[in-house]
Formats: sequence, C-alpha cells, structure tokens
Amino acid sequence: MRRGVDPQRADDVADAMREVARTGFLPAEQRGFAAQDRPLPLWHGQTSSQPSTVATMLRLLEVPVGAHVLDVGAGSGWTTALLARLVGPQGRVLGLELDPELARWGATNLAAQGVPWASLEEAVPGALGRPVDGGWPRILVSAAARSLPDELVGQLADDDARMVIPVRSTLLVVVRSRRSTTVTSHGSYRFVPLR
Ligand SMILES: C[S@@+](CC[C@H](N)C(=O)[O-])C[C@H]1O[C@@H](n2cnc3c(N)ncnc32)[C@H](O)[C@@H]1O
Repeated sequence: MRRGVDPQRADDVADAMREVARTGFLPAEQRGFAAQDRPLPLWHGQTSSQPSTVATMLRLLEVPVGAHVLDVGAGSGWTTALLARLVGPQGRVLGLELDPELARWGATNLAAQGVPWASLEEAVPGALGRPVDGGWPRILVSAAARSLPDELVGQLADDDARMVIPVRSTLLVVVRSRRSTTVTSHGSYRFVPLR
C-alpha cells in the first residue's frame, strides 16, 4: 500500500479503492463476489456496503491528507482501511464497531493492511461515537440513524468539519463551521440500522 494521497490527484478515492482490495475484508465464501457492485453478507445480519456507495460516501466526506477520522460502523474494517489510505501516515483513523465478533475480525483484517495509524475497536454499547478533545474533523457513519444524532454532530470539530451519515434512507452531509451547521441531502440508499 502506498502511504498517503497526493492532494493534487483528481480521484484519490478511486485510487484508494483500487489499492485496498475488498477481498481482504470478506468472509472466505464471499470473496469470489468482491468485484460485484452490491452489498455482501458478513454475519449477524451485517453487510459489506456496496462499493459504489462507499465511494460516494468517501467523496462526500472530502478527506484531507493528515486528517483525523472517526469511522462509526466499521464492520469488516474495509472503510477504516480506505480512510487510512486517504489520510496517510500523518493522519489517524479510529473505527468503531458495535458487534464484538465483527469488531475483532475487522481489527485483524485492518492489521493485515500495515496501516498502524488506523485502529478498529469495539464500540461501547449505548455510547455513540467517541468524543475527543477538539472534535473530529471528519466522521463517517455506515449505518442508518432514525434521526440526525446530536451526539455525533457534537463530536465534530467546530471549524470546517464534515460528517457523512445515512438518516433513514437519505444520505446526509453535515458541515460544521464556527458560525453554523448545515445539512444537505445526497440521494437515497439502504443501510443496516444504527443501534
Ligand atoms: C454496513 S455495515 C459495515 C460496513 C463497514 N464500514 C465495512 O466496511 O465493512 C454497518 C455496521 O455498523 C455497525 N453498527 C451499528 N450501530 C453501531 C454503533 N452504534 N456503533 C458502531 N457500530 C455500529 C453494525 O454492526 C454494522 O457492522
């Protein structure tokens, strides 16, 4: 894996998706379907998201090299690894996954990628996200909330911070600046529920 993305590159998300193979984040029996643009089953009813949807979400997130990113619903570790590729070694990515077994497997998948600036941990039940000093410049959420969670909006940094999150079936981008928080809609998608 190359380290970091040249900020001048036209499509760093496409580069990241080429370099971080989905096969490394699928159960053995699903690996043969990795190239298909559809969600694939992991286990416990959870899924590896559709690649084109993942690419859309990463583009909407506008991830700068060196950014700190929170990845809520990290599942297999694939999005965490893609984010690690986008931020490069100057950055930091924390993936959180609620399902304990999936979190352990996802952390193993991620470790195999050689990106020590990214980690994947089991989420604390009942505590959405992970507050940090100064807030997160970027938050990606890969499970659908019933309404926009104030708890996660409050974990964004207060200047030029972005969160991409599905709410019910609509993909939202939340942009937080010192003066305001804006929310825009970016199409309809299906996700497993945020719990
Ligand atoms: C679409 S799936 C996984 C996609 C994942 N990003 C990947 O690359 O494989 C969404 C995941 O969100 C997890 N999830 C749901 N609610 C959560 C929460 N409150 N905190 C962390 N993970 C959560 C589910 O267990 C599920 O594994």
